[in-house]
Formats: sequence, C-alpha cells, structure tokens
Amino acid sequence: MKIALGVSGGVAAYKAAELVRRLQQEKLDVQVVMTRSAQEFVAPLTFAALTGQKVITEMFSADAGAPANVESAIEHIAVAQRIDLLVIAPATANVLAKLARGIADDFLTTLHLATTAPVVVAPAMNVNMWEHPATQENVEALRARGVRIVEPDEGYLACGMTGAGRLAGVEAIARAVCEVLGIRHDFDGETALVTAGPTCEDLDPVRFLTNRSSGKMGYALADAAGRRGARVILISGPTALEPPAGVELVSVRTTEEMYRAVLERATECTVVIKAAAVADYRPVSPHSKKLKRGAGRLTLELEPTPDILSDLAREKGDRILVGFAAETDHVSEHAREKLRAKRADLIVANDVTQEGAGFDHETNIVSLFTRDGRELSLPRMSKFDVANRILDEVLRLRHASRQVPTVEGAPGPDT
Ligand code: PMT
Repeated sequence: MKIALGVSGGVAAYKAAELVRRLQQEKLDVQVVMTRSAQEFVAPLTFAALTGQKVITEMFSADAGAPANVESAIEHIAVAQRIDLLVIAPATANVLAKLARGIADDFLTTLHLATTAPVVVAPAMNVNMWEHPATQENVEALRARGVRIVEPDEGYLACGMTGAGRLAGVEAIARAVCEVLGIRHDFDGETALVTAGPTCEDLDPVRFLTNRSSGKMGYALADAAGRRGARVILISGPTALEPPAGVELVSVRTTEEMYRAVLERATECTVVIKAAAVADYRPVSPHSKKLKRGAGRLTLELEPTPDILSDLAREKGDRILVGFAAETDHVSEHAREKLRAKRADLIVANDVTQEGAGFDHETNIVSLFTRDGRELSLPRMSKFDVANRILDEVLRLRHASRQVPTVEGAPGPDT
C-alpha cells in the first residue's frame, strides 16, 4: 500500500524520519511531502534517502535549475488518487487550522483536500498553542469529519515549557496508521490460499459457460488476510479487478485449471478459503470449431467437474478449510449439508437472492457455520468487513483445535 507522510514545520519534524522507517516495516510505500517550514528543520534529502523517492516540497517544483512547471503540479496531484492514506506528523497548529478550514495554499494542504483516502494527524506544538480554544475547535472539526487524531504526549517541550504538545511516539502513530488501514498481525506466519471469481467452461472456441461472480468477495478476503500478516496466494478466475498489493496472483480460467492450481499450492498453505464460484458442470466434449446455427434444437451434454473442496479435504492435515455456499433457498439446511459433505471447518453461506448480498455487490450478508456447531448470522456489511469476520472465525477455529480437550475425571494427556 502507498501512503503519503506530510511533515510540517516543528522541532519534532526530525522524528518523522524514524516514523518513515517504522511504516516501511509494515511494507508501506511512503511518499514524503514537506511544507516549506518543515525544510527549515530537516533537509528533504534525509527523507529522499530513506524512501528512495523524490520528496514533494512545492506545488510547482521542478528539477534543480529548471523552471517550475505545471506538469509537476499535475503529477503531484495524481498522488492524491494513488494513496491509501495520508498521515501528517508532526502537524503544527497552523497546518491543523488550514486542514480544519479547507485552505489549500501549499502542496500538503492541497493534497489533503484532493484525496479521498483516510487521514491521520499527529499534532505537535507548544502547550499553550495546543490548549488554545482555536486549536481545540480545529481538532474537534477534523475529528467530526472522520480524521484520526493521535493526541500529543505530555512532557518537556522544546520551547522549555512542560505539558501536552509533544509529538506522540512513533509506535502510537504507526499503530493508528495500521488500524485505519486494517493492518493487523494476527495472521503472521500463516499462508492463506484464496480462490475468487468464476470459472469458464468452453462450448466451442467462441462461447463458454460461466456465472456472475465478480471476484469481489475473494479479493476482499485476499486483501484482508494480507493486511493481517498472511502470505497470500490468490487463485482467480477471470475478473476485472486489480489484485490487492502484496498478494501472489495465479490466474486460471477453467475448473480443471483451478483444481490443479489449488491442489498444487495448498501444500504450502495453512488456510484455504474457497470463495470462487466454480462451475459444477462442463461440456463433455467442447467443439473445436464454432458451432453453427441450425434449424433444430441443440442439446449440450454436460459432465460434473472435479469437486476441489472435497478433494482438498482428503489431505486436510492441520489446514483450516473454508468453503462458501451460494444458495437461493433453504440456506441453513444446504450450508449444514455442505459443511458435512465437503468436510470443511467453516461454511460461509450467502443467499444470493437477497438485496445487497452475493454476486457483484460491494456488500454481502452471510451466515457462518462451523464444524464445532457454531452458527452466526451477520448483518449486511462491506465485503472487506465480511472477510475480516471470516478471518476472525478462522483464528478461533485454529486456537480451538490447538487446545487439548480435557474432560473432568478423564485421564489427562500424560497418563
Ligand atoms: O465474486 P462475487 O461477485 O463477490 O460474489 C461472491 C460469491 C457469491 C461468488 C461468493 O460469496 C460465493 O458464494 N462463492 C461460492 C459460490 C459457489 O460456487 O458456491 P457453491 O455452493 O456452488 O459451492 C460450494 C463450495 O464448493 C464453494 O466454496 C466452491 O468454491 C466449492 N466448489 C464448488 C464446485 C466445485 N467443482 N469445486 C469446489 O470446490
């Protein structure tokens, strides 16, 4: 993920260099933007050396010696579209006021208005400036707009006074950035294989059978698992989506290709989540030439495809297996039956006839059915949030399976 780090002019500007390093540990690609006064405290070269990228210092900046140009302004403003988050640390009282009022008189404040990415602000200033009602009103205005404020610490300040105003610790700022970006570490050490999208089964060289899966549910799972620390292998049928950053994409088209890819790569994985809408049938013998229109009816003979999830379950080991059930009726009954028949640990059932659920929507409405008998119905939420709830359940199952069951009065594991 790409983020912009805005540095404004306070003594704490030097701490932003340490923040760059900490954010890079989260595999974030950091573009630094400095105000003019920030450059009085730290040279842009420091940040350029740390990030390996040019620091943006001016709206119309150009290479040394060349005249300022409008291309650079356009190029810079493109940063607003590219970033996943803007963090400003340190933010001076002056910058806070400009952010609160929507003033855009330099690159950083213009970027703040031009981006739709979430914003995290870590103020740092003299204690009286921080406690001034004008500053507090500005902070409240930003909070009300959804900006995440990382409150300054109390302590000895560079101006010689003691009180609130010290830039929050690098760890606290990094934690806020991670929380807003949905980065957690509870999947560190796990390798997740996620399938997504539809599969296609050819009838002839120009026609094929497929379904309405957009891949959004599977891509959201891959994204969420990656942000939580997992290595992610995304095996996807054809979709119009960009793979999430840091995810290994394996593109497939047919059920047979998905079958082979999943069985081959599953050996590396600790979790397999099958969100793909896999064709259950395929033509027995696809025509090698385009089928010509005739006067009479055309009958297609179809045969079942291999059941990937069931075959995976045979060599399950410690792997957690998650299947989906796309249903149009008797959702719970079908889901419980799939949990049993496919020997999965968890089935995520969605009634694809419900408004806001299933194919191609940004949201989904799902119920979770686990092998240990838990049933959980979730309200409508974004596919990303659904993905995180599924991952929470995967972790719960993982911990449950690691606990040695002891029954009171029964012999313990040592006897
Ligand atoms: O992609 P979106 O537009 O975001 O839509 C999301 C979705 C509706 C596709 C998703 O939420 C979903 O329900 N995916 C599973 C669709 C499906 O094929 O369900 P099923 O009930 O037919 O299959 C049950 C399970 O067996 C699934 O995990 C499926 O991946 C798996 N399966 C099915 C057939 C087969 N030959 N091999 C399999 O492994």
